[in-house]
Amino acid sequence: MATMVDLFIRDATFDDLGAMLAIYNEQVLTSTSTFDLRARSQEAQHAWFLEHQEGLHPVVVGERAGQVVAWGSLSVYKPRPAYQHTVEVSVYVHQQARSQGLGTAVLKHLCERGQSSGVHTIVAYIVSSNQASLRMSRACGFVEAGRLREVGYKFDTWLDVVIMQRMLRPSLG
Ligand SMILES: CC(C)(COP(=O)(O)OP(=O)(O)OC[C@H]1O[C@@H](n2cnc3c(N)ncnc32)[C@H](O)[C@@H]1OP(=O)(O)O)[C@@H](O)C(=O)NCCC(=O)NCCS
Repeated sequence: MATMVDLFIRDATFDDLGAMLAIYNEQVLTSTSTFDLRARSQEAQHAWFLEHQEGLHPVVVGERAGQVVAWGSLSVYKPRPAYQHTVEVSVYVHQQARSQGLGTAVLKHLCERGQSSGVHTIVAYIVSSNQASLRMSRACGFVEAGRLREVGYKFDTWLDVVIMQRMLRPSLG
């Protein structure tokens, strides 16, 4: 648990899923920040939450004045087992709470969680137009690892993705 920029960050519970889903679905419907095209259902949100676990794959929320205004997660990067030390990060902030440092606080918290639980490296796939997300990731030590051209198509537009990566542990071999 941590308090940063007037934000209380804690592990998410089932009671938080509705508020998290509202923040996420606003972006599904209005933005290219997520490549989902249809609003996520409560059932899908529940299943997504169950896929996460303590340790390598935490889900956290940021609360301000008792309201969930942000959430973030470290998720399985790819299911094949050799990827088990790599996670993919997501951070979403309520539209009325953006650009106040909350996303950076959640991402920093998740990097610390990853570090303490033994994650080797964190990746973030960010649509190339998402300046806030790119800047947030750079501020937290991520560097560009690659760029995928026109891998997404949403709102009648082809979308490039920037792959950002942060190493948490030194390579030993
Ligand atoms: C991306 C997001 C998580 C960033 O969180 P935030 O609380 O708004 O951002 P912060 O206030 O922590 O600022 C992070 C960086 O982005 C910059 N920034 C913030 N809002 C910005 C904007 N609208 N345009 C450009 N840059 C912006 C900040 O200046 C800061 O950069 P700096 O450290 O170089 O000064 C948040 O804007 C959000 O939820 N957006 C919609 C969902 C999304 O894009 N999620 C990420 C999917 S990959």
